[in-house]
Amino acid sequence: MYKTSLRTLKMSISNFLTMFLLIEVVACDFRYGPDGLNMNYYFMSCPFVEPVVQNIVNNALQNDPTLAAGLIRMHFHDCFIEGCDGSVLIESTKDNKAEKDSPGNLSLRGFEVIDGIKEELERRCPGVVSCADIVALAARDAVSFAGGPVYDIPKGRKDGRRSKIEDTINLPFPTFNASQLITSFARRGLSPQEMVALSGAHTLGVATCGSFKNRLSQVDPTLDSEFSKTLSKTCSSGDKAEQPFDATRNDFDNVYYNGLLRKNGVLTTDQTLFTSPQTRNIVYAYAMNQAMFFFDFQRAMVKMGLIDVKQGSNGEVRQNCRIIN
Ligand code: HEM
Repeated sequence: MYKTSLRTLKMSISNFLTMFLLIEVVACDFRYGPDGLNMNYYFMSCPFVEPVVQNIVNNALQNDPTLAAGLIRMHFHDCFIEGCDGSVLIESTKDNKAEKDSPGNLSLRGFEVIDGIKEELERRCPGVVSCADIVALAARDAVSFAGGPVYDIPKGRKDGRRSKIEDTINLPFPTFNASQLITSFARRGLSPQEMVALSGAHTLGVATCGSFKNRLSQVDPTLDSEFSKTLSKTCSSGDKAEQPFDATRNDFDNVYYNGLLRKNGVLTTDQTLFTSPQTRNIVYAYAMNQAMFFFDFQRAMVKMGLIDVKQGSNGEVRQNCRIIN
């Protein structure tokens, strides 16, 4: 009798603990952080948002795998100017020159993919999913499509109402040294290690000659002499000629960091990561250990995606990502 009631008591305690844990797990997923974002933001209002974004991104990248680079870069340029608020998508008007038209943004690609996603989501759940969230999700899905880490991101960003060309002065220049890069990223709360991990996005895509020809005017001891010839050959076709950042331009891997070890970095800002004693060990670690790069990259992307997010009446959900409501 005594044993039975003890067993019953134990069972009730264990049931209670299981229930408590379950409630805790569910609550964690729905809990609003200080930035108001959470993993299940669209759970009730637009439950199919993630598969819709992923399908459209996958279809677009199957047709043109080079667009993965464009989508990831778009998210970076969005977050670094006015926070992750879709301001990079806004078109200029006769009264306003928008971010999109600044020299640093002219080679951004993938806007049609964002438009396609927005149209589909407006059909399914009008006025619910922000363009800023679409950019963040599309970048995340582009990373995994290209073979990079698969990860979840918090959602609930609102779209901004400001997009001014002059704000883009705050994008890092490709001629920065390591200290300037560290300062630029620190202003957004990102550490030197996060800066090096995020620079690893240059595992995808290309730079145009105009972005690296500064390295060719005189002998650059941080540039391998054979690779210097390759860059010069690219530039012989003009400022718009494209140079892949690494040997596997559509694969998300750590080949980029291994290139830096061999002085094969394309931009000044790429090579400086290995030249500078402040960041050299991080480059070395990522070159040796791809899993470590993937782990740090996805954490840094989540953090970058939280820069100055807009909430409530500070933002809106744009009907058309290119136009403020
Ligand atoms: C560390 C500071 C950074 C600088 C100075 C920089 C600069 C540049 C420049 C100059 C280009 C080539 C543009 C052109 O010539 O058309 C480029 C391309 C690219 N950047 Fe960065 N970048 C930086 C960090 C990042 C970050 C943090 C990401 C994403 C997380 C990123 C993603 C990309 C991608 C994917 C491309 C290739 C784009 C394409 O092929 O269309 N970059 N970047």
